[in-house]
Amino acid sequence: MVRRRRMVRRYDDRPVDPAVVDRMLEHAVHAPSAGFSQGWAFLRLDSLHDLDRFWRVTTPEEDVESMSDWLAGMRTAPVVIVPLSCKDAYLDRYAQADKWWSDRDESRWPVPYWHIDTGMASLLILQTAVDEGLGACFFGIPPDRIEVFRTEFGIPPDHTPIGAITVGHRVEDPGSAGSPARRPRRTPHEVVHHGHWGENG
Ligand SMILES: Cc1cc2nc3c(=O)[nH]c(=O)nc-3n(C[C@H](O)[C@H](O)[C@H](O)COP(=O)(O)O)c2cc1C
Repeated sequence: MVRRRRMVRRYDDRPVDPAVVDRMLEHAVHAPSAGFSQGWAFLRLDSLHDLDRFWRVTTPEEDVESMSDWLAGMRTAPVVIVPLSCKDAYLDRYAQADKWWSDRDESRWPVPYWHIDTGMASLLILQTAVDEGLGACFFGIPPDRIEVFRTEFGIPPDHTPIGAITVGHRVEDPGSAGSPARRPRRTPHEVVHHGHWGENG
């Protein structure tokens, strides 16, 4: 299942069963989270009207004009899920009595776990798509489109979209498109350091 997952960037016109999207989101909330803070939320868009609003506010104007292949393919998705992280949920959680950082100081965090955990939840959505025989793609919302996206969908200031996920029935052959078709996947041999950095194997 893990090896079968590939980002899919074009979909056919079959709708996605809403029960399948329910399962994706049920699996997402089974992701691990630091201190079980669960500082995540998901915006689910599956009507033509909402999808149109999403692409309108998140697409830079120059891309709309040229309607790149990428955008044309992604726009065929019948479902978009936007995972959002909530930093405050973590700062609040770790200020509770069973934790110890009552000052809510962000510098105590080795990396922003709110984004990490929401990314883990996103991966469960991607893997559930594989299980369900669907395709999905995680992609970034351009930084200069975030504010207008927030306004359009009423996103509260303490929630940050970490990206977005298209979901649908794939038309492309998995693995035939995208960067892995052009660049090799790094092997464990290249990236694993056993016992000491540089001591592979
Ligand atoms: C954090 C993150 C951001 C990504 N952003 C984009 C994106 O903006 N557009 C896109 O087409 N793919 C995006 N991808 C997908 C990667 O290009 C893809 O995962 C990578 O090329 C490996 O291909 P695979 O996932 O099909 O194995 C993103 C993936 C991650 C994890």
